[in-house]
Amino acid sequence: MTQDELKKLVAKAAISHVTELPVPPGGLVLGVGTGSTVNFFIDELAVLRDRLAGAVSSSERSSERLRGHGIAVLDGNAVERVPLYIDGADEIDGNGHMIKGGGAALTREKIVADLADRFVCIADESKRVEQLGRFPLPVEVIPMASSQVMRALARLGGRPELRAGVVTDNGNVIVDVHGLRIADPAAMEAEINQWPGVVCVGIFARNKADVCLLGGAGGVQTLVF
Ligand code: 5RP
Repeated sequence: MTQDELKKLVAKAAISHVTELPVPPGGLVLGVGTGSTVNFFIDELAVLRDRLAGAVSSSERSSERLRGHGIAVLDGNAVERVPLYIDGADEIDGNGHMIKGGGAALTREKIVADLADRFVCIADESKRVEQLGRFPLPVEVIPMASSQVMRALARLGGRPELRAGVVTDNGNVIVDVHGLRIADPAAMEAEINQWPGVVCVGIFARNKADVCLLGGAGGVQTLVF
């Protein structure tokens, strides 16, 4: 199976996590992430649009796709909680800790993940790692602090590179850090997050996945953390 076929497979599997939710009066509000795997999920979600009041989305791209399917996009401020957040990952370890932000949407992804009662990660098996850090770690940074933050990231042992030509939905830049070995994801997330100029680091340890639907040659494996 191709990587796209695996992504489609897990996107379809994620639909059962939506249909098992009770539909409150007025309809369900879901959290919806960003990326090529989530795009397949949004396409699948279209058939359930009548159950939905709408979605809180983690990017302008996903919002556009949701609206294209007739699914309303709600502001994060309009909801107190969402029962479920579906999103992809760039890497996921055996504890449900992830690296995210390959699509530059990490900050809004973490905001929506934090609104959610349950985070279901959808990914193909290439994303499963023993230790985070093979994928360059994305960090969203306020532009005037990029050099300062890059020097601090180099002191941590990584090789930071400014992602060329990318401005996030929030008007910031992305620094990708190569060569980091992330032995303690929660500690590194807390450390980098507190630096002035850092908006968000793409380690999702505090907001880890509760479940991962992992697509492989043998079908969809459900990992529960
Ligand atoms: C975007 C993300 C995505 O979830 C991550 O990059 C995975 O994307 P894809 O489903 O295209 O492999 O974090 O910021």
